[in-house]
Amino acid sequence: MQDTAEILWNEQQSTCYFKMGLRSPALARAAAPGQFVMVRVRDSTDPVLRRPFSIHNLLGEGERLRGFEILYKVVGRGTAILSELRAGEHVGVLGPFGNGFTCPEGLQNVFLVAGGIGIAPLYYLASLLESMGRGRPLWCTLFFGGRTYSDILCKEAFHVIGVDLRISTEDGSLGHKGLVTSLLKRELASGESPDIIYACGPEPMLKETFRIAASFDIPCQLSMESVMACGFGACLGCAIKGKGPGYLHVCTDGPVFDPSLLGW
Ligand SMILES: Cc1cc2nc3c(=O)[nH]c(=O)nc-3n(C[C@H](O)[C@H](O)[C@H](O)COP(=O)(O)OP(=O)(O)OC[C@H]3O[C@@H](n4cnc5c(N)ncnc54)[C@H](O)[C@@H]3O)c2cc1C
Ligand code: FES
Repeated sequence: MQDTAEILWNEQQSTCYFKMGLRSPALARAAAPGQFVMVRVRDSTDPVLRRPFSIHNLLGEGERLRGFEILYKVVGRGTAILSELRAGEHVGVLGPFGNGFTCPEGLQNVFLVAGGIGIAPLYYLASLLESMGRGRPLWCTLFFGGRTYSDILCKEAFHVIGVDLRISTEDGSLGHKGLVTSLLKRELASGESPDIIYACGPEPMLKETFRIAASFDIPCQLSMESVMACGFGACLGCAIKGKGPGYLHVCTDGPVFDPSLLGW
């Protein structure tokens, strides 16, 4: 689906992080947690490629959906241009693309693991889990790690939907000092046993999450990143090694993967 979406807001959240609300009811209706959109940051051929962003949150208007939010970190040219756009301007969006997270029936205890901007798709997932859990218990715990306190976004928003937070920073400026995976390991070693772990973040964090989950025999789903030129299977630029002899494409086979299918 292609749309020209009005920017509803584009607000700085922390040092280099922004949240952008986009009016696009049709795209919001089609979106599932873990899916992404390709955004043309400027209405010209410079930069030529669209940039991929996870759907962070759906925006409601009464009973209807009016759009969605993306949460992004400024890391280069495209995201710097995006951060300068104002409410009322428009951006081209394509999507939603990819295979998102799947939520098996009967979940009661879920762990989310995020590193840095990997938090982006997990809020939409947590909101869905919260609505699935209405009327019966569903515990959701978020393990969220960053380099420093300003990487730890959306704490209040997760708190409001009932998610229990465990925070870590590498410099110790907020929460546990160290890596988020050490917090995860400690919790599992204490006897907690979630039905599933969903994770998004840098690849070393995802690998370690998988290793820990496997050692406790807990299934997990990982949202992977890669450089993407098209987002829908045409350029083959997002290929990663699969378990077998072939390659997987992050845009069409993922971005959310069962890690046992990856060639790690
Ligand atoms: C499926 C998917 C979902 C994503 N969701 C989000 C999101 O919700 N929020 C967010 O902030 N970012 C997200 N990203 C990453 C985001 O697309 C890149 O940060 C962005 O394209 C960088 O564009 P740029 O022009 O600012 O940087 P560039 O100038 O293109 O690159 C600047 C630096 O960022 C690195 N980089 C570029 N693209 C990626 C990438 N895809 N993954 C890792 N490093 C990259 C480059 O290697 C370079 O070091 C997602 C990526 C994928 C594949
Ligand atoms: S980004 Fe083009 S094939 Fe995946």
